[in-house]
Amino acid sequence: MVRKIGILTSGGDSPGMNAAIRAVTRVALGSGVEVYGIRDGYKGLLEGRMERMFRSSVSEIIGRGGTMLGSARLPEFKEEEIQNKCIDQLKKNGIDALVVIGGDGSYRGALALTKKGINCIGLPGTIDNDIPGTDFTIGFDTALRTCVENVDKLRDTSSSHHRCSIVEVMGNHCGDLALYTAISCGAEMVISPETGFDENEVLERLDYLHESVQKSHAIIIVSEKVCDVDALARKITNNTGFSGRATVLGHIQRGGSPSPFDRMLASRMGEKAVSLLLDGVGGHCVGEIDGAITSLPIEEALMRPRKSRKHLYRLFDRLV
Ligand code: ADP
Ligand code: F6P
Repeated sequence: MVRKIGILTSGGDSPGMNAAIRAVTRVALGSGVEVYGIRDGYKGLLEGRMERMFRSSVSEIIGRGGTMLGSARLPEFKEEEIQNKCIDQLKKNGIDALVVIGGDGSYRGALALTKKGINCIGLPGTIDNDIPGTDFTIGFDTALRTCVENVDKLRDTSSSHHRCSIVEVMGNHCGDLALYTAISCGAEMVISPETGFDENEVLERLDYLHESVQKSHAIIIVSEKVCDVDALARKITNNTGFSGRATVLGHIQRGGSPSPFDRMLASRMGEKAVSLLLDGVGGHCVGEIDGAITSLPIEEALMRPRKSRKHLYRLFDRLV
């Protein structure tokens, strides 16, 4: 029987994590379960930094970005000795089960703790949309909105100055943020892990757009870690009719008030996490698939290929 649950946020933060913390807290309290908020992810768990949560602890956080619990990365959490110390902390504080909100690494940590006797449920919290077992992660929609708002602004000035804007967005080896931004902003090109990067192809295409289509400006959305956007901007200036300017959107993508979609997703997923724990389930992660909230074993989710985006890349090609 579950009497006390813990909740933590781990890895890069994302808008909507607070809405998930709120949902888990209120649904659990409403089911007669005590809730403990653990500070700064697995790091705070290791150090025993946690406090009891009440209904009012999560008042007025649904619209706030970031995570009220704080987040951290603890690479040593892969070590069994550190995991055992965390299990000791949970047992010392009488916590029977845990909700972990974070990325796939956080899921692996949740699975390790489950195997050691504390049931854990993972919720997908990241702007990258790179977690298998769900169509969308908590925070992706808000980050996309931020990207679109900013690229729209860049379009204004690149159009006035007949320039090519090269915009780097986050994604951590997943091109979704770049692809969705490119489609939503009507960009001329998208460069992502899925498209690969061929510098000559980019330069030839831009030259064609400038000379044959007579485009006066262009936007290229680049997923981080695929190419050096500053170097690409210089190449564009030196080899095409466009003057290139690079912009790295950076951490502004991780902040801001969560969109209604992310608040809804987080609330629905938070409710599901508590109901799984009350049913005695552990080592699962929650996802939204084709609009329905579902759960599946973390081990299975991590082995699943992510949904193909080929149709969206095809759509992008048909729209440029
Ligand atoms: P991010 O992608 O933002 O770094 P993750 O959710 O992937 O977020 O990782 C967050 C944390 O999860 C790591 O700092 C570490 O504490 C933990 N973690 C990562 N990989 C593992 C693993 N294989 N086993 C246990 N814990 C892990
Ligand atoms: O996983 C979220 C994310 O924002 C990635 O998109 C990015 O690669 C990384 O975290 C940045 O991490 P940091 O906050 O350590 O700079």
